[in-house]
Amino acid sequence: MASNSACVRFLLNGDVVEVAAPDPHLTLLEWLREERRLTGSKEGCAEGDCGACTVVLGERSRDAGGRDRVALAPINACLRLLPTLDGKAVFTVEGLRSVGGALHPTQQALVDRHASQCGFCTPGFVMALFALFKTSPTPSRDEACVALAGNLCRCTGYRPILDAAQTMYQYDGAGARSEHERWLFTPATADAPPLPGESELAARLAALARDDALAYESADAAFIAPRSVAELASAVLATPEAWILGGGTDVGLWITKALQRSRRIISTGEVAALREVSDDGATLCIGAAVPLEEAFRALNRHYPELASVWTRFASVPIRSSGTLGGNVANGSPIGDSMPALIALGAAVVLRRGEHTRTLPLEALYLDYRKQAREPGEWIEAIVVPIRADASTRRVAAYKNARRNEQDISAVFLAIALDLHAGRIDGARVACGGMAGVPKRATHVERALNGADWNEATIRSAMRAMADDFTPLDDLRASAEHRLRVARNLLLRFWHEQDDRNVEARVF
Ligand SMILES: Cc1cc2nc3c(=O)[nH]c(=O)nc-3n(C[C@H](O)[C@H](O)[C@H](O)COP(=O)(O)OP(=O)(O)OC[C@H]3O[C@@H](n4cnc5c(N)ncnc54)[C@H](O)[C@@H]3O)c2cc1C
Ligand code: FES
Ligand code: FES
Repeated sequence: MASNSACVRFLLNGDVVEVAAPDPHLTLLEWLREERRLTGSKEGCAEGDCGACTVVLGERSRDAGGRDRVALAPINACLRLLPTLDGKAVFTVEGLRSVGGALHPTQQALVDRHASQCGFCTPGFVMALFALFKTSPTPSRDEACVALAGNLCRCTGYRPILDAAQTMYQYDGAGARSEHERWLFTPATADAPPLPGESELAARLAALARDDALAYESADAAFIAPRSVAELASAVLATPEAWILGGGTDVGLWITKALQRSRRIISTGEVAALREVSDDGATLCIGAAVPLEEAFRALNRHYPELASVWTRFASVPIRSSGTLGGNVANGSPIGDSMPALIALGAAVVLRRGEHTRTLPLEALYLDYRKQAREPGEWIEAIVVPIRADASTRRVAAYKNARRNEQDISAVFLAIALDLHAGRIDGARVACGGMAGVPKRATHVERALNGADWNEATIRSAMRAMADDFTPLDDLRASAEHRLRVARNLLLRFWHEQDDRNVEARVF
């Protein structure tokens, strides 16, 4: 019989389930389909790209009025490791229909709008829409597009699905019987008190909360979810070869695609301090385990110019699971947050045991997949300076990829500079996709700093780009294309800043 510290407990469609010591590599989707026989959630790609496996995660939260709430977010079940659900709530498509058989408003709207043909994608759309229904009271069509960017449909075409996204709010939820169903069937409203069903759910989640760490061994592998920074630090120090797990949106693919296994997985997600964002007016400190969605919201408060580029980072489900620390630690040369953070002058707080040190983010990346981190050293937080004056410090970031939604960057360029009386100062430019690491463009910066703010300066900075980068040729883009795009993005920045009426975005 498994001890409590070896038993994963969570709410599945409102019922408590206990899974004794699951293989730490087991994904939620495998468990749902193969062990629970809940086959509504589909496997399309097993890599977070298609959305057929979308489910909704519920976590305890507190609103501005101090009331216990349940925060909902869509996630990809194909990448989410089962033990990370301990203490949380999971909703699958099977849980939406009322006991009396009434379809949920999201389901009924899809039916009424003829928004499904083969139906393989439909459960994922239902769950992505359910998350939208419960979190956004009146989404615009553009917001509905963002919410569905992680869901692929090959048959129906998106118009009827988007129609359903807007009409699902018109249903009265009459088929709901219990308080739980009434909560499920009632859409989000701005600043409404929790419905009884939500309060009950929050209380049931509170009852599942544990004091000790979830820690167990199964199938020749150990899983540990430390609950404090000290516990995490000593676990990583003791086994530096262990996998550190954030949201698993990279690590999940090592399992599902590369078929790798680890002897030990250490999760950062239960360390409360790593899930905090603090803002002292001068700096924003974002804990490594803060989900990307939340980290981007915090950044948008100070740098709203970046908001649209963040909607092009994967999809809402990936951004709801994936963490900022995971993106920075992964250090991919085509990762999107790092060039923007480097341009903003961010630093990274590294911890090894009891010792911490802070590096400028660009100093973390030495060479392709080579970082300045020591064995046993991990990322605790990302610290971003807050600009004093948005009218003088201009900021922009651009992602160039083949598709608007859910695509990997060919080139990502971010720029920040001060403009005082027509002169440029404090320029920081960083690119992704242009080298083996996310990299600062120091020659470009030199061409900008101290120069007059005019097109001739920008054109000289564009020429300097070739001194900073020798981009790769690969399937995503040729070296020549990348260099040209990066240069032209500088020009675009100039046009956008110089004349705010210029429409430089294609979509
Ligand atoms: C469909 C899909 C689309 C994607 N699109 C994009 C995109 O548009 N742009 C982009 O940049 N990325 C994208 N990604 C990659 C991924 O989502 C991001 O890199 C994400 O931020 C990873 O965060 P995570 O918490 O899921 O990391 P995990 O998968 O948990 O971990 C990633 C790496 O970081 C390490 N790690 C995690 N936390 C820490 C820590 N605190 N200290 C030290 N090491 C740590 C892990 O050991 C691992 O090496 C995409 C991924 C998928 C599956
Ligand atoms: S199966 Fe495609 S996103 Fe999960
Ligand atoms: S209805 Fe067939 S994939 Fe969407």
